[in-house]
Amino acid sequence: MTQPLTLAYDEFKTILLDRRSIRKYTEQPVSVEDIREIIDCARYAPSDTNSQTWEFIAVMNRDKIKDIEAITWEQLHRRAAEAEQRGLSKEARLLTKSFGPYATAFSDAPVLIVCLATPYNSKFRERIFDPVELVDDAVWAEEGIKSSCLASQNLMLAAHARGLATCPMTGPVLLAQDRLREYLNICPDCQINMVIALGHPAERPARLARKEIDDILTIVD
Ligand SMILES: Cc1cc2nc3c(=O)[nH]c(=O)nc-3n(C[C@H](O)[C@H](O)[C@H](O)COP(=O)(O)O)c2cc1C
Repeated sequence: MTQPLTLAYDEFKTILLDRRSIRKYTEQPVSVEDIREIIDCARYAPSDTNSQTWEFIAVMNRDKIKDIEAITWEQLHRRAAEAEQRGLSKEARLLTKSFGPYATAFSDAPVLIVCLATPYNSKFRERIFDPVELVDDAVWAEEGIKSSCLASQNLMLAAHARGLATCPMTGPVLLAQDRLREYLNICPDCQINMVIALGHPAERPARLARKEIDDILTIVD
């Protein structure tokens, strides 16, 4: 029992350490079968009371992905112009030059997965939490996002294990959430958590450094 588990752990850790956020993709398309397989892995993420507060939209049309890029730039330029008017020229320039390319790094990808968080509903909430007014609505919105994030991580690791590459992104959501919602006809109940670019990698960036374990871990014994 111990031996196979150790082997599985080593492979798992390699997958974990080798994943990168990829922003350049080859022309090779991604199949619907690949997408269904990684969504199959996503849906086995844990969720609060197994509420499964996630849904995914896979945009597989490059023209539509370009439209989403254009929508993001449009909103970015609008915000930069507003900042300029308020005398924040340096920030406006940085928004366009630095944040712009970062927020649109999905433009090259053959697939853009929009990760949604659906409302957190459960018998616990209905029968106990809401009657006692346990927490306010903003907390429940966060609850849905938490599980959606875990599913998104499953999705990215599964993609990497299948030789695909991803980049999780909130840039377009921060800038153009309302326009994105309109463009993709997303129901008002759902929150747009993040978008994930998906494709075959055309770059292999170095692993970025992480904080040391001792700087992020407190052991209470
Ligand atoms: C919540 C979140 C939002 C992110 N937003 C963006 C983004 O808008 N644009 C982008 O290019 N990368 C984005 N990233 C990717 C990060 O830049 C990347 O994960 C980080 O630099 C570490 O690099 P690695 O994923 O290759 O390990 C985001 C990642 C997360 C988790």
